[in-house]
Amino acid sequence: MERTLVMINHDGLQRGLAGEVISRLESRGLKIVAMKMLQMDEAKATRHYEPHVGKPFFEGLMKFITSSPLRAMVLQGENAVETTRNTMGTTNPLDASPGTIRGDLATDIGRNLVHGSDSPDTAKKEIEIFFSPEEVLDYPRSVEPWVTES
Ligand code: RTP
Ligand code: MG
Repeated sequence: MERTLVMINHDGLQRGLAGEVISRLESRGLKIVAMKMLQMDEAKATRHYEPHVGKPFFEGLMKFITSSPLRAMVLQGENAVETTRNTMGTTNPLDASPGTIRGDLATDIGRNLVHGSDSPDTAKKEIEIFFSPEEVLDYPRSVEPWVTES
């Protein structure tokens, strides 16, 4: 079972799209094993976006991502990284396919609603930045969740 880090950035929260984003990811069969609100400080944001340090959009990205709380989640499932990325759509919403989160709900590359780890290795590193091991709680899926055992 693979895990990935997903963030609903504050453009998504302010637009009231958290439920929609979570619903699309859950509907694909991914399981939420951790979730919380958090506000990134400069140090955590720089660790998280380390591969982008020095790129032209880095400063704007830092300013945006540290300016308000966001919602972080760990999702678990078969090929969780790729499944999440396919469900999110490409980075620039203008190129994202209809049917994806970004393709349906966003227009601006700097306000593309969600973050998803880009590989299993990256996911492991990113999850460690924002979650302690005790905060990630796997749980069994009930076979018949609608039936109360007597
Ligand atoms: P993310 O990390 O947020 O899941 O997005 P991603 O993998 O699809 O894209 P990435 O290349 O990792 O870029 C991280 C975030 O930086 C902003 N960005 N702006 N103006 C630009 O050219 C540009 N390129 C990237 C986006 O908000 C992107 O999600
Ligand atoms: Mg990325």
